[in-house]
Amino acid sequence: MRSLISVRDLTQEEVLSLYESYLWFKKGVLEKLKGRVCLLFLEPSTRTRLSFEVACDNLGLLRSTITQKDSSLMKGESFKDTLITLRELGFDGVIFRLPFVLYPYEELLDLGISLINGGDGTHEHPTQGLIDLFVALDRFKDLKGKRVLYVGDVKYSRVFRSGSYLFKMFGARVGICSPPELSLQEHDCVDEIFYKVDEALPWAHLVIYLRLQRERYKDLVIEEESYFKHFGLTKERYEKIKGFFMHPGPVIRGIDVEPSLVYSEKSLILEQVRAGVFVREAVLTYAFDMLK
Ligand code: CP
Repeated sequence: MRSLISVRDLTQEEVLSLYESYLWFKKGVLEKLKGRVCLLFLEPSTRTRLSFEVACDNLGLLRSTITQKDSSLMKGESFKDTLITLRELGFDGVIFRLPFVLYPYEELLDLGISLINGGDGTHEHPTQGLIDLFVALDRFKDLKGKRVLYVGDVKYSRVFRSGSYLFKMFGARVGICSPPELSLQEHDCVDEIFYKVDEALPWAHLVIYLRLQRERYKDLVIEEESYFKHFGLTKERYEKIKGFFMHPGPVIRGIDVEPSLVYSEKSLILEQVRAGVFVREAVLTYAFDMLK
């Protein structure tokens, strides 16, 4: 059994093998796995949770789901003790979404239960990073020299932290564009830092819009109307996009993206949603291959 908590633990060979597996699932090939997984979702989720559930069903994995209100973590049990308890109850793996950063996590890797990260605080969202990479590979084939621009709340974004690492792994250049309060001074995966989206958009082949994560910057006041005016995807800015744009969702219409553009010609949002099931089937197969 294998775990996936951070994309930084994957080699390029492993990512390519996941991509191959994703392409097979996309073609409709299905293989069956044996095992029992628990989805432990302590934050809201539509796409990640349901696509993991669909993927488990398609692969024949038994599954149970617990959310924040059902979990004894809320009574003070530690995350490690919860994992040990799930293992003893007969679960082979846990797919989790957490409101906190799971780092460092090395001591959890030896518990004898596979750990799959569906998003932990501001740390990582490896399967969303893989979705964005694979949809980009489907479109561009080769990402060497391609310029990928993240626009919006980069500072608190786990999608950015996983995706930027994967895009760099495949030779892309990564830029960010945010208000200063939501930007990063430096990051090992960032080549360009922009503060004006009208200057940044013509630079990019692929633009990834990110949601303002109001739940994570409680002390910061970002005026949303002004944010949309200065950074949001308006009809004028849409014309400046020379390739495509993505958004991992959920999209906040009228703040991140002008409503009529959400499913427009240059939007890959629905492709990202559809890819979710195939990527999660590939990751579950990577994790539970031994249990076939
Ligand atoms: N992209 C993403 O993680 O969406 P959900 O929060 O709906 O799972």
